[in-house]
Amino acid sequence: MSESARAVVDLDAPGATISRHLYGHFAEHLGRCIYGGFWVGEDSSVPHTNGIRNDVVEALRRLDIPNLRWPGGCFADEYHWRDGIGPREERPRMVNSHWGDIVEDNAFGTHEFMQLCEMLGAEPYVSGNVGSGTVQEMSQWVEYLTRDDDSPMAALRRQNGRDEAWRVPFWGIGNEPWGCGGQLRPEAYVELARQYSTYLRDQSGNRLYKIAAGADAGDYGWTDALMKGMARNDGKPFFDAISFHQYTVPGKGWSGRGRATEFDTAWYYETLLTAKRTEERIRRHSDVMDVYDPDKTIGLVLDEWGTWWDVEPGTVPGFLYQQNTMRDALVASVHFDAFHRHADRLVMANIAQTVNVLQSVLLTDPETDELILTPTYHVFEMNRAHHDARALDVRMHGVGRRTLEDGSELDLLSLSASTKDDEALISLSNLDATQSHEVMLDLRGRRVAGSAARLLTGDTVQAHNTAASPDAVGVRRHAIQEVANDFGHGIRIELPPHSYATVSLQLA
Ligand code: AHR
Repeated sequence: MSESARAVVDLDAPGATISRHLYGHFAEHLGRCIYGGFWVGEDSSVPHTNGIRNDVVEALRRLDIPNLRWPGGCFADEYHWRDGIGPREERPRMVNSHWGDIVEDNAFGTHEFMQLCEMLGAEPYVSGNVGSGTVQEMSQWVEYLTRDDDSPMAALRRQNGRDEAWRVPFWGIGNEPWGCGGQLRPEAYVELARQYSTYLRDQSGNRLYKIAAGADAGDYGWTDALMKGMARNDGKPFFDAISFHQYTVPGKGWSGRGRATEFDTAWYYETLLTAKRTEERIRRHSDVMDVYDPDKTIGLVLDEWGTWWDVEPGTVPGFLYQQNTMRDALVASVHFDAFHRHADRLVMANIAQTVNVLQSVLLTDPETDELILTPTYHVFEMNRAHHDARALDVRMHGVGRRTLEDGSELDLLSLSASTKDDEALISLSNLDATQSHEVMLDLRGRRVAGSAARLLTGDTVQAHNTAASPDAVGVRRHAIQEVANDFGHGIRIELPPHSYATVSLQLA
């Protein structure tokens, strides 16, 4: 049985620009994200360019990934960048105490990361060490990366083989300072971040967009403290943006969150309800920021988001390796809908993490050229036309709802839309595990000259891709029906259970 809903889209009333950076990524020295994910080293039999996996780069280029955050995460606050430059065989080792308590040989460092960004066509987002570093260390890293004269750090960079200064737009001042980044109280972090910010200088024409490390999930007091501590004596802000982290962990805490591929229908709905609550977090952090910055000149950055399941059996607990199902794809799609709706304040978001860790878009075998595109990968790919497009308002009518065991209500459809260059893209998620939903799109304000739809789904909500079955959750063309309606153009689309669709429009 199919339920019907109607969505009105005003194609001639574009709103805020959806920054492409809302489709950003995050790569930490954690498990097999960097080592075995991006980096296999120059002696590997896996096809690579200077040690960086070709297959991973090619897959990510197809997503037009706009930025990559590195080196952490919690790792960032114990990372000392000088350990990761110079001849690899001479680089000191360290212990990655957060993630598996393993020895890190620093084979992947600053030059390797910057080369990776160049290969990806992505802008670097460097997360600096506040927890165990110094102001001088961070300030010299900026000089090493971005200065083009004969300063001491620029000379050191040249000695290590890179003549030209790099461009580094995004700079994070620590990570989770309320937790792994130093266990600081908000007032203490604000003072430290102001000090660090003072010495993070724009050099040789490079302009740093400084991001203060923000709240854990719904800690709005942290955002308030940062906003209060934002202004310098000259009235300019210390930070361009503040971040927060919000993982999708259903239930009442970190225990019992369950497996990535084994869950029942109740837990599936609970997960999607949890994912949808990210929007409330964005709204409420934004509300706090509005009090101090009503013109929205300071950005909000969600630089870690995604599902966090129990690790796959037989894998190292500290490596956070999990599979990725159609449920994860829908978690991603409802996040993107929320991001589009809040594009006036939310300027960047980074999925945690790109390869082999948490809600990855890619899974690799470190020893072979095996590469799996996860269901979440396909949502990123299908949404590419939203990058830097302008958000369109979508008014929904007659959306089916499900009442969860605790009485909460979950809307079973999620939609968002945008327009750019005489084109529009509408994203539609059917969260219903068992029923199809029909949506009538009322398209107003512009003439529609052409349309096409694509659909992502699998046999079940647990469906996932493996090396043996790489397209269990895959994208295909989808039939839609064009109908004239009283207002202009209508498109009827049938969304199968647990599916994600995009409708592309050519506008006349
Ligand atoms: O993404 C994994 C970890 O989650 C990050 O290192 C940390 O910032 C967060 O707690």
